Amino acid sequence: MTGLFITFEGGDGSGKTTQIARLAAALRAAGRDVVTLREPGGTVVGEGVREILLDPAHEELSPMAELLLFTASRAQLSLTVIKPALDAGKIVLCDRHADSSVAYQGYGRGLDLAMVRAINTWATGGLVPDRTIVLDVEPHAGIAAATPHTADRLEREAIAFHERIRAGYLEMAAAEPDRIVVVERDATDAVWSGVLAALAPVLARAGITLGA
Ligand code: TMP
Repeated sequence: MTGLFITFEGGDGSGKTTQIARLAAALRAAGRDVVTLREPGGTVVGEGVREILLDPAHEELSPMAELLLFTASRAQLSLTVIKPALDAGKIVLCDRHADSSVAYQGYGRGLDLAMVRAINTWATGGLVPDRTIVLDVEPHAGIAAATPHTADRLEREAIAFHERIRAGYLEMAAAEPDRIVVVERDATDAVWSGVLAALAPVLARAGITLGA
């Protein structure tokens, strides 16, 4: 059995968690061993880094320090959890991975895209998802959906920041059409069928068929 690495990306409040839960349940019902993870986080070290990153009190965090913290969490997760799971033939579903840093710290904060990519390649040992789904949603709608009273440090950013991230994801998908698929997040059932359609080729290669 071949391991499969599938990531979900998108703006804040784009509904990744719901789709990942549904996909994990469908894959488990099809008899596959599934690991669901999130970034930043997914390890004890990573969850600690997540608290630092999302704490609204850390307003002064510089873009470069922010990038390195996200990447530190990712290095720990990629090398100690994701790679071993893939080597064991499991399906890994990850809520965000390196593409988030390209979108948020690269397009969003304005850090050099090539530098963001290079640091990530180094930190993940060159790990690249087999398929990435970008759930695309209008930034204001997405941010409103994410708990408005408890918004974290990144959710508090101006709408222009979230617009740049959205445009960044669309540009990334256009540049890597064989890996990154954009699914519009409007009606919930359409999202799920979009996710299934986007994954059909990689799932077929792994011998898996999922019904709608
Ligand atoms: P979440 O809300 O999807 O759990 O993600 C946490 C926040 O961190 C979200 O606003 C996106 C942001 N983020 C980055 O800015 N860069 C990254 O590399 C990752 C993984 C997340």
